[in-house]
Amino acid sequence: MIIAIDGPAASGKGTLAKRVAQHFGLPVLDTGLLYRAVARDLAARGFRLDDPWAGAALARSLDPATLDDPHLRGAKAGDAASVAAKIPQVRSALLQFQRAFANQDPGAVLDGRDIGTVICPNAHVKMFVTASPEVRARRRHAEVAARGEPISYEETLADILVRDTRDAGRGAAPMVRAVDAHLLDTSEMDIEAVFQAAVGLIMRKISQ
Ligand code: DC
Repeated sequence: MIIAIDGPAASGKGTLAKRVAQHFGLPVLDTGLLYRAVARDLAARGFRLDDPWAGAALARSLDPATLDDPHLRGAKAGDAASVAAKIPQVRSALLQFQRAFANQDPGAVLDGRDIGTVICPNAHVKMFVTASPEVRARRRHAEVAARGEPISYEETLADILVRDTRDAGRGAAPMVRAVDAHLLDTSEMDIEAVFQAAVGLIMRKISQ
């Protein structure tokens, strides 16, 4: 059973993916971390974030053990990832790793931007999780403030809008809802309600 969860920055898709994976006893891959790690490795070696050759080489040699790095969770890392993620060579270099993860037995949950459209077009269940930019900014701001990052709500909202435009506007695997993905607009829902809705969708699929 492959479960694909896509959506924009700070939509809650990561939290949902983890809860769904735990509930169904499946491994989970936060694919945003892969792009964040490539951007980190590019910057650490002094390359531009949009260098296709270095990006692809570093993506191919990415050590999954380094994905635990807490620095990858920050707002700056997310923005840098979104720049590196525009490079088609970087995306192709990360494709096999993601597909292999998805195709393990008994299945997997992956969250990202292009899981339902490009990485796992045959996923058994696809969801596109979203919320208004203001709601996402409020949630993300509360999260980063709790971690002590000195970023205002206005900066957080601006960052989200820039990322939405870049992720949805790029030529390679843009963020878009797959035609067969269930839309979960979480603007007016808490995580528990989103989780229950997702479990309901998956259970309906299992019992079909
Ligand atoms: O999900 P996230 O915020 O951690 O992702 C960081 C960036 O990585 C995001 O702005 C775009 C890119 N990304 C992508 O292009 N494709 C994915 N499947 C996941 C993330």
